[in-house]
Amino acid sequence: MSVPEECAKKLREISPAYEARAREEYIPIIRPESLKLLLDAAKRTKCYRILEIGTAIGFSTAWLATETGAIVDTVEKDEKRLERARAFWQEIGIENRINAYLGDADELVPMLAKENTYDFVFIDAAKSRYSDYLDAVYPSLAKSGIVFADNVYYLGLVKGDVYPPHKHRTIVTNMRAFLKKISDKEKFDTTIYDTEDGTAVCVKL
Ligand SMILES: C[S@@+](CC[C@H](N)C(=O)[O-])C[C@H]1O[C@@H](n2cnc3c(N)ncnc32)[C@H](O)[C@@H]1O
Repeated sequence: MSVPEECAKKLREISPAYEARAREEYIPIIRPESLKLLLDAAKRTKCYRILEIGTAIGFSTAWLATETGAIVDTVEKDEKRLERARAFWQEIGIENRINAYLGDADELVPMLAKENTYDFVFIDAAKSRYSDYLDAVYPSLAKSGIVFADNVYYLGLVKGDVYPPHKHRTIVTNMRAFLKKISDKEKFDTTIYDTEDGTAVCVKL
């Protein structure tokens, strides 16, 4: 079901200020080039249901819901951020297209994956958990469905096999495990874009 044009118009109108405010407040939301890749990828496949892991203040959620017309299930552990997200979606008029879940993705993602089939999964929460999120969602991802993961090069530390600094070791090690899984040619047709912090688009085979 497509989203009414007045909602899309409202999002285009209020999005720039909302995005600028998030950056001023250091709330990590998707960067412009990655957003473009996200929406291109989401529109490449017919999306009925999307799972977003990491809502923050609902910026990418709003774009996904509006541009695809899909129902979006989204997961966030920070209550204040989720409150802002809900107000943003309400202002646009798309709140009935989005199911927001407050809590830890480690628990919510396996639960949602058991209950639903997803055409598109946007992984954007804890960087050390991407590999686990992938394992949890894989069985519920439709054939030709897409996993889109942002920040897969994590500050440029993941590329190559350089031994990471102690502070980032877990994230880098786990992100490399994630990259190895999405490189499995029997399971995914994966493209990794060098854009910004590295973006992976994986089509389930
Ligand atoms: C990069 S932001 C999401 C940005 C959003 N997708 C966008 O582009 O507008 C990541 C969010 O994931 C949330 N997060 C991190 N770990 C989480 C967890 N274990 N469970 C649920 N949410 C988590 C953080 O609170 C943060 O708001």
